[in-house]
Amino acid sequence: MGSLHRPVLVDEVVTALAPRAGAIIVDGTVGGGGHAAALSRRVGPSGRVIGLDRDPAMLVLARERLHGLPVTLIHTAYAEVRRVLDELEIDRVDGVLLDLGLSSDQLAWEARGFSFAADGPLDMRFDPDSAGPTAADLVNRLSTEELARLFFDFGEERFSRRVARRIVAARQTSPIRTTGQLADLVRRSLPARSRHGPIDPATRVFQALRIAVNDELGQLDAALAAIPDVLKPGGRAAVISFHSLEDRRVKWAFKRDPRLTVLTKKPLTATAQEVAVNPRARSAKLRVAERCPN
Ligand SMILES: C[S@@+](CC[C@H](N)C(=O)[O-])C[C@H]1O[C@@H](n2cnc3c(N)ncnc32)[C@H](O)[C@@H]1O
Repeated sequence: MGSLHRPVLVDEVVTALAPRAGAIIVDGTVGGGGHAAALSRRVGPSGRVIGLDRDPAMLVLARERLHGLPVTLIHTAYAEVRRVLDELEIDRVDGVLLDLGLSSDQLAWEARGFSFAADGPLDMRFDPDSAGPTAADLVNRLSTEELARLFFDFGEERFSRRVARRIVAARQTSPIRTTGQLADLVRRSLPARSRHGPIDPATRVFQALRIAVNDELGQLDAALAAIPDVLKPGGRAAVISFHSLEDRRVKWAFKRDPRLTVLTKKPLTATAQEVAVNPRARSAKLRVAERCPN
């Protein structure tokens, strides 16, 4: 079965990166290969898309989708972009794309533990082969203060202390092992008035844990620092983010770097038509910058 993820802002990304025949583009978050398919068709047989992903299961889907297209797939984190290019003996590239967060496929795989809508092991690692902590490790080991800070800083959860206290009390009986258990605890720890609304009350806590488990902000900062060096003069970087913690970092990294010219004074967002068919696009923000001539 192929990828069920529907890529966002595809036309906008293609316009922004303007891939010409022969161009080399790094897709740092290749996922199911939706953006990479559109980009690789344009760079033609003399060009190449280098697709990176931390999740080997996503690379299986990408390989299927991108069969026959000029794409090289590599299992690695996008913060490693400089090392990857050195290994491929490529100095600079024409474009870099990052489409942050997780794909609908990962969300749908219960065993990966990303979803509060299904019951699965509390994992959330993008790379299940990594030694790094799982969400269960964090939930069962961090102190009340550390959990509260994590939910506040990475989830902007107003009731972070209440949730943290409830978790620490619950784990004294037995460890919290599943997404269902955690979602239930979060829902029960919020005041009744904030339990009902269009967004599940567990959303922010799950987002916070995923960000922490995968060091997502550290990865993003490292990639943003590396990008100006890997772009040719005139080369472009396009980053799609889905929440303000990411978007702020992209905005400032692009603005502050004297080697970059910002091409999007305001981020590009999805049209009403796109949101109607793909609700994930609602919060997507695309920022684009161009490498100045040397
Ligand atoms: C929103 S999806 C990308 C979807 C893709 N653009 C498409 O068209 O199908 C994000 C992907 O980035 C991957 N990812 C997350 N953090 C990563 C990192 N630091 N390095 C590489 N890949 C990462 C996830 O595993 C996921 O497959």
